[in-house]
Amino acid sequence: MRIDVVSIFPEYLSPLELSLIGKARQTGLLDLHVHDLRSWATDRHRTVDDAPLGGGAGMVMRPEPWAAALAAVREAGRGSLEEPEAVPHLLVPSPAGVPFTQAMAHDLAGEAWLAFACGRYEGIDERVLEAAAEQGPVTPVSLGDYVLNGGEVAVLAVVEAVARLLPGVLGNPESVVEESHAPATGGLLEAPVYTRPATWEGRSAPEVLLSGHHAKVAAWRREQSLRRTADRRPDLLEQLDPAQVTRADRAVLADLGWESGDSGVRRPG
Ligand code: ADE
Repeated sequence: MRIDVVSIFPEYLSPLELSLIGKARQTGLLDLHVHDLRSWATDRHRTVDDAPLGGGAGMVMRPEPWAAALAAVREAGRGSLEEPEAVPHLLVPSPAGVPFTQAMAHDLAGEAWLAFACGRYEGIDERVLEAAAEQGPVTPVSLGDYVLNGGEVAVLAVVEAVARLLPGVLGNPESVVEESHAPATGGLLEAPVYTRPATWEGRSAPEVLLSGHHAKVAAWRREQSLRRTADRRPDLLEQLDPAQVTRADRAVLADLGWESGDSGVRRPG
């Protein structure tokens, strides 16, 4: 996969040189390029922002350097992918974007080329995104309902979530199957985990995990997932596919005061 990131703070992306993502870059699984937006600013001060039309607080990123940067990225990528028609899927981190999810990470992991436009200040002039949408797919993405100072932190999160799903990036591909939000868990949160020692400072790990009884361990984990999801993310539990709710699940849900039936599960009250 090729990934291009355009930012006024290229150093902000340096964590992508570390750990499994850094290794994936070294082994060629991930071809990641970080670009400084200011290279495409044309004035003496390399200005990339200006006051918002219509007034208001903050500054807006000017369209000209962005258009030049995205054109250069498209050109460079086409050369490296050796496909004259290739276009990147442009992702634009923004608190006004669509929520980034594990399902989206899976979809993006299936693409050959992603590009990220990191906005700062109040954001990027909207016409840049309109023009880019005439060249290829554009998706504004939000990490969550809070405001960051710019898109760089969101890019670190999205790139890590996507790259770890690429075949060969994780040592053990099984680890992405059963984790929180993974399709195989039905979108439930993962159960708590423990390691040795079995008793630490007077606290014992759950007995069942020492039993060596795989079916009992699986049943315990499923119950913990349901309880944890009911407590922390009742919205996820409500989205559970009724076909995936077993009789044992119904007993746990009933204990929590949840109703379950053919049409799905409903929270108490
Ligand atoms: N930029 C600023 N806030 C953001 C958020 N919540 N998600 C993604 N990008 C952002």
